[in-house]
Amino acid sequence: MSQPNASFETLLLHLKENRGFDFTGYKRASLTRRVDHRMAEVRAADYAEYLEYLEVHTEEFTALFNTILINVTSFFRDPEAWEYLRAEILPSMLATKAPDGVIRVWSAGCASGEEAYTLAMILAEALGVEEFRQRVKIYATDVDEEGLTIARHATYDERQVRAVPAELLERYFDQVGGRFFFRKDLRRSVIFGRNDLVQDAPISKIDLLVCRNALMYFNAETQSRILSRLHFALAPAGVLYLGKAEMLLSHTELFQPIDLKRRVFRKVPQHSAVLAEAPSPQARPQMGGLDLLRHAALLASPLAQVVVTADGLIALCNRQAETLFGVSNRDVGRPFSDVALSYRPVELRRYIEQAHLERRTMRVADIAYLRGAETLHLEVQVSPLTDADAGLLGVILSFHDVTGSRRLREELQQTNRQLEAAYEELQSTNEELETTNEELQSTIEELETTNEELQSTNEELETMNEELQSTNDQLHVINDELHDRTDDLNQAKQFLETILTGLRSGVAVLDPEMRVLVWNRRAEDLWGLRKDEIIGQHFLNLDIGLPTQELRPLIRRTLTGDGGQHEIVLPAVNRRGRPILIRVVGSALNGTDGSASGAILLMEQDGQDNYHPDGASPDLSERQDDQAHLGTFDCR
Ligand SMILES: C[S@@+](CC[C@H](N)C(=O)[O-])C[C@H]1O[C@@H](n2cnc3c(N)ncnc32)[C@H](O)[C@@H]1O
Repeated sequence: MSQPNASFETLLLHLKENRGFDFTGYKRASLTRRVDHRMAEVRAADYAEYLEYLEVHTEEFTALFNTILINVTSFFRDPEAWEYLRAEILPSMLATKAPDGVIRVWSAGCASGEEAYTLAMILAEALGVEEFRQRVKIYATDVDEEGLTIARHATYDERQVRAVPAELLERYFDQVGGRFFFRKDLRRSVIFGRNDLVQDAPISKIDLLVCRNALMYFNAETQSRILSRLHFALAPAGVLYLGKAEMLLSHTELFQPIDLKRRVFRKVPQHSAVLAEAPSPQARPQMGGLDLLRHAALLASPLAQVVVTADGLIALCNRQAETLFGVSNRDVGRPFSDVALSYRPVELRRYIEQAHLERRTMRVADIAYLRGAETLHLEVQVSPLTDADAGLLGVILSFHDVTGSRRLREELQQTNRQLEAAYEELQSTNEELETTNEELQSTIEELETTNEELQSTNEELETMNEELQSTNDQLHVINDELHDRTDDLNQAKQFLETILTGLRSGVAVLDPEMRVLVWNRRAEDLWGLRKDEIIGQHFLNLDIGLPTQELRPLIRRTLTGDGGQHEIVLPAVNRRGRPILIRVVGSALNGTDGSASGAILLMEQDGQDNYHPDGASPDLSERQDDQAHLGTFDCR
C-alpha cells in the first residue's frame, strides 16, 4: 500500500476544497490505512489515480467518508466509566444546580446515537422521568449525517441493545417487531445535529461534555484546537468526559483531572497568570525598623532578591540580583520605579501595589527573560513585609529561576503527548480492527450462507446420485435379463440352425409381401445366388433358373392361409445351367395368433438327378458335387 506523500496531501486538499470536509487534521497512519482500504476496493493503484476516480465517480466520496469515519459505538460502552459517572460525578453536578436549573449535556461525536441515549437513561434514572423531561437537554452531534439519521430514528436491533441492562431496556424502550424504539417522550430531550469538531462553533454553557473516542483520530495540533473549543463550550464548573484512550495529560492548563483513569476532567477557569497566596507567618518579621527589614531579607533564600520600602525605595538587593538584573548597592535609596527591573522583564509595580493593599504574596508565573543568548524562565514572588502590628514595612521581590524545572515539565509534557499519541494510536487501531472484524464477520456469514447452499446442493446431488444408483441397479437387472434372453435366443437360433442343417431341401422363407427372409445354402447351391444378394428381394422378381412367376398362385394360396401345404413340380435350370425338375412345397408360416405371417418354400430336385427334357441320363460328377453342399445351408 502507498505511503503518505505529496499526492496523498493533494487528495486531502481536494476533499477539503470540493467536498468541504477537512481530513488534514486527522492522524496520518490511521487515515492512510482507511484510504488505502477504499483504494483497494476500487482497484486504484495510487492516490493520484484514486483522486481521478473520485472526480469521475461522485458517489465514491460517501463510501470514502464512511470508511474514514470509524463509527464503532454501543450503549454503555466501557460500563465501568458510565457507572463512575452515574455514581460519582452526576450527584455532585446535580447538587450544584438550582432545583429547576436546566442541565445541558453535549455528546460530541455521537455516531449512531447510542451514547446520547445512554446519557438520557442515566440522567432519567437520577432525576426521574418527569424532571428529566423538564430540565435536561442533550445535544448530540456528529459530522456523519448517515449516523445522525440512524440516531434520530432511535431504533436498534437486539444485538445493538445487548449492553443495555434488562430493567433499563424494559423501562426506556418499546419493543416492536423485534426492534427496540427509545421512548418517544424522552427522545424529545435529545437534539441531534451536524457539528464538525474541527470547523464548527461549539455549543455553549455545557454542564457535562461527553466526547469519547473521537479525539484520538486527530493529530496533536488539531486536538489542541478542538480542546480549546471544548473548554469554551463548558460552563465554569463543567465536566469533560473523554474516551479511555484520551488522557489529556498535555492540556492541564485547560482541564484538570477529576479521575484520570476514567478520563473525567473539570474545566480550569482561565484567569490572569497571577496566583494569590495567603501571607505566610514567616513573612512577618517580629522585629521593627530597617534592621529588621534587612534581617528579614537576609532570611530569605539565596535567590535574586530586592527589598523595596513601603514608600517605594530600594532598600536592599543581593548579589544574585546584581548578577541577573544589574541592580546593585548603588541603587539602594533610589525609587524602585526608576530602575529597569521595575518594568522588565515584567511590569512589577502594580504587583507591589497589590501586595501593599492586600497584604498577601503575589506571584507572577512564567516570565521569559532574555539574558545574552540565553532565555531564562522566572517566577517572581512579591511578598509584603510587615511589623509585629501588621504595619507595612515594604515588599521583598524574589526571583525564582524555573528554567530547569520548566524544561523538565516540557519534556514531561512532550513524553506525555507521545504517550497519549501512542495510546490513541493503539485505541484507534483497535477500533479499526473492530470494524475490520465486523467486515470479516459479515464475509464469514456470507461464506456460511454459501456453504449452506453448497451443502443443500450437495444433498440434492447425493439424492440424485442415489436415484441414479438405483436406476443403474435396475438397469443391471434388466441387462442381466437381456443377457439371459439373448442366451435363450442364441440357443434357439442354434437349435433352428441345427434343424435347418438337417434338411436336404432348399429353403426360402417369404414375408407377406413375398420378400425373401431366409435363403439357405442349399438354395444358393440350387440357384447360384448368395444369400446377401437375395435377402429383401421380391421373390417373384428373382432372376434365377426357377420360373418364379409360375409359383405366384402357390405362394398366394399359402399366404392367404388355408392352412394346407401346396405343391408344384416345375421344370427349372440349376446354377450350372442344367435343366432339372424342381418340386416346390409351400406351407404357411403361422404367427402366434394362427394367421399366416409368411410362406415357407421347400425346393427339392424331383425324381431323377437331372431332368432331361430330351431323356438323357444324369451327370454323376455333378451329383457328387451337389451332395458336397448338403448340410451347409444358412438361414436368417
Ligand atoms: C468511534 S466513534 C465514537 C462514538 C461514540 N462517541 C462512542 O464512544 O461510542 C467516532 C465518531 O467521531 C465522529 N467524528 C469523526 N470526525 C469528526 C469531526 N470532525 N467532527 C465530529 N465528529 C467526528 C465519527 O463520525 C464517529 O461517529
